[in-house]
Amino acid sequence: MNQTLVIVGASYAGVQLAAATREAGFDGRIVLIGDEADAPYQRPPLSKGFLTGSFSEARLPLRSQAFFDEEKIEWMPSMRATNIDRAQREVELHDGTRIAYDHLALTTGARVRKLDCPGATLDAVHYLRDLRDARRLAQTARAARRAVVIGGGYIGLEAAASLRQHGIDVTVVETEARLLARVASPWMSAFMQRAHADKGVAFEFGRKVVALQPLDDAVSVVLDDDTHLPCDLVVVGIGVIPNTELAAECGLAVAGGIVVDECACTSDPAIVAAGDCAAFVPHWAPPGSRASRIESVQNANDMAKVAALAIVGRPQPYRVVPWFWSDQYDLKLQMAGIHSGFTHHALRGSVDEKKFSIFYFRGDALIAVDSINRPQEHMLARKLLAQSVKLAPHEAEDPAFDLKGAAQ
Ligand code: APR
Repeated sequence: MNQTLVIVGASYAGVQLAAATREAGFDGRIVLIGDEADAPYQRPPLSKGFLTGSFSEARLPLRSQAFFDEEKIEWMPSMRATNIDRAQREVELHDGTRIAYDHLALTTGARVRKLDCPGATLDAVHYLRDLRDARRLAQTARAARRAVVIGGGYIGLEAAASLRQHGIDVTVVETEARLLARVASPWMSAFMQRAHADKGVAFEFGRKVVALQPLDDAVSVVLDDDTHLPCDLVVVGIGVIPNTELAAECGLAVAGGIVVDECACTSDPAIVAAGDCAAFVPHWAPPGSRASRIESVQNANDMAKVAALAIVGRPQPYRVVPWFWSDQYDLKLQMAGIHSGFTHHALRGSVDEKKFSIFYFRGDALIAVDSINRPQEHMLARKLLAQSVKLAPHEAEDPAFDLKGAAQ
């Protein structure tokens, strides 16, 4: 029987899901619907090399058109799914087209959270999520002298680093008391703050933006303590909102994300979800934990592979150690595992040389490792975590201790 898989969302998770389903032997029709005009592309370079000019647009595509042709993946650009009819098993597109499915995959991702204050829609305000945002920002950055970055998360800091490399003065405004508060330990936040301060970035912590005011050719960012930060360019990176509306409107379970089980299946057996839009209870979470989302390329790719196996009838639980990375200046930050709830940590390597790893423990269990310019240690950390290897803090700290041996 020739079946149809319809995939809504053509970024990492959608493209990987199409490829992985084919690889797993699915020989039916695969339709990949994306609302962007550009061929599916890599997002991480947008705030890094694409902005500094070292990573050309030609290198961005995730897969070539030849790949889609060979694998018979019907990629439909500039198409937005507007409704899912679960009873009829049909997806409706914005132009009224209806596509029947046997399997439906929701890989709708997330959209930027928008600044909500007077002046938030001024031309000088930029976001950094899709290629159109990045093209416009790269263009503006060429002539800019002073920038304010709102949000000290990955996007804000990567943008700050890229803009500094253009010689632009940068101030980062962050509502929390530290950088990367959502994703990094206080220790790593402090390290990253020092790194940015050394490159001349200024900070405003614990502050809210109350307005953006036009100022001749520029704009003034007004904070809640009445500080005015004049600049020619504002970059906003204050987090993302998962695209769950389609799922909610057709009655699927949604709780901070499209709720899926450990095999990426939603509450409807014909529908899977993966990537930034999907919420699940991770295998490492204590029993009774609520479903949550993981925003990362790794999660999009690996969860998509799990979803593909569910589609072909060979479900496998999602059991991958999460990992993340960020490049800022000469720093390659790589994180393995989730450090939240750690009770103590151990340092391996040299902070002064900017080559080290921090090992996080909860009780006697190793739960996460952050590495700076130690890519091999990061790979070992992923192995150690995947195998739940018992490691003592003094072993982690000891440069003579054979981590590779421990990770066998
Ligand atoms: N003003 C200033 N800072 C704010 C505001 C605000 N109004 N609202 C939120 N913030 C701060 C948060 O405290 C946080 O430190 O913005 C930061 C946002 O960080 P993230 O949630 O990590 O989001 P962002 O950096 O935008 O990245 C979005 O892209 O690269 C991926 O993994 C990344 O999935 C994430 C996504």
